[in-house]
Amino acid sequence: MADGGWSRKDLIGIEALSRDEITLILDTAPQFAAISERSSGIKKVPLLKGRLVVNWFYEPSTRTRNSFELAAKRLSADTLAMTAASSSSVKGETLHDTLANIEAIHADVIVIRHGCAGVPHILADRHASHIINAGDGRHEHPTQALLDAYTIRKQLRLRLGDPEATLDGLKVAIVGDVEHSRVARSNILCLKRLGAEVRLCGPSTLMPQGIAQMGVQVTANLEEALADVDVVYTLRLQLERQAKALFPSLREYIRLFQVNTATMRYAPEHALVMHPGPINRDVELSSEVADGERSVILDQVSNGVAIRMAVMHLLVNGGGQE
Ligand code: NCD
Repeated sequence: MADGGWSRKDLIGIEALSRDEITLILDTAPQFAAISERSSGIKKVPLLKGRLVVNWFYEPSTRTRNSFELAAKRLSADTLAMTAASSSSVKGETLHDTLANIEAIHADVIVIRHGCAGVPHILADRHASHIINAGDGRHEHPTQALLDAYTIRKQLRLRLGDPEATLDGLKVAIVGDVEHSRVARSNILCLKRLGAEVRLCGPSTLMPQGIAQMGVQVTANLEEALADVDVVYTLRLQLERQAKALFPSLREYIRLFQVNTATMRYAPEHALVMHPGPINRDVELSSEVADGERSVILDQVSNGVAIRMAVMHLLVNGGGQE
């Protein structure tokens, strides 16, 4: 990225992105947020007019799929949705063949979610269309991390009254089921690249081995984790991905790790509460805090559309068109 523009064909993960590339995406999003916020007139721009965006989801998803679909529509693209059950994978077709068939109808952008880590990368290497990773196994979920960083930056700028404020030196605690979370991995990479300090907190059975090598602090003590943080990022307890019970009981988990009104007292007044959704209400996060004043969870959802519009625009138009 020599000239400050965008040159990548695909968005596979945060790992490959430089701080400048992440910042370019975050800086491109506000103009798209403004389009969705229009109170009158047309809530669309023609930047992807006539292009075909295919949402290809092998795993259940409502919010991410809807967010990508709406982002594509707001850019005036045509959209097609494919789920695992409706694609020919159930008839034995390989992913490459399925994608070759999608490309034969001149798709431009493929948004893919798959249970296996690495699938978006393998497809992007062999195919000409723009591939966006919407979550691959436990590996990465880059647009989630980007919308989270955008939400944090926006809230920080509002609080400080400084439109140039950055995440440098900001402290973020990620609490819960890190082991099964691609959201945690992408967020650690993204937040650290933007200069924030990241702490992880959860039961040791839900903490991937060697995770500290990503340059994060790890603790099983919630009070310690939340002391002086700016953001408390709660993760969903991914019960469907747990082959065996990884902690003694849900009651025990709630007692030690639930983010609620009492445990939020460990954190400073200004600390924000975030969650990627869907929430297990009153498990990892109490309803009172999820719906409370410090929660920016619905702001995350709104910002998701703007971030995904920014990503699709940059991939297809190279950031060169306004
Ligand atoms: C996350 C996911 O699917 O990785 N959700 C999302 O994208 N909205 C996190 C989760 O399922 O807990």
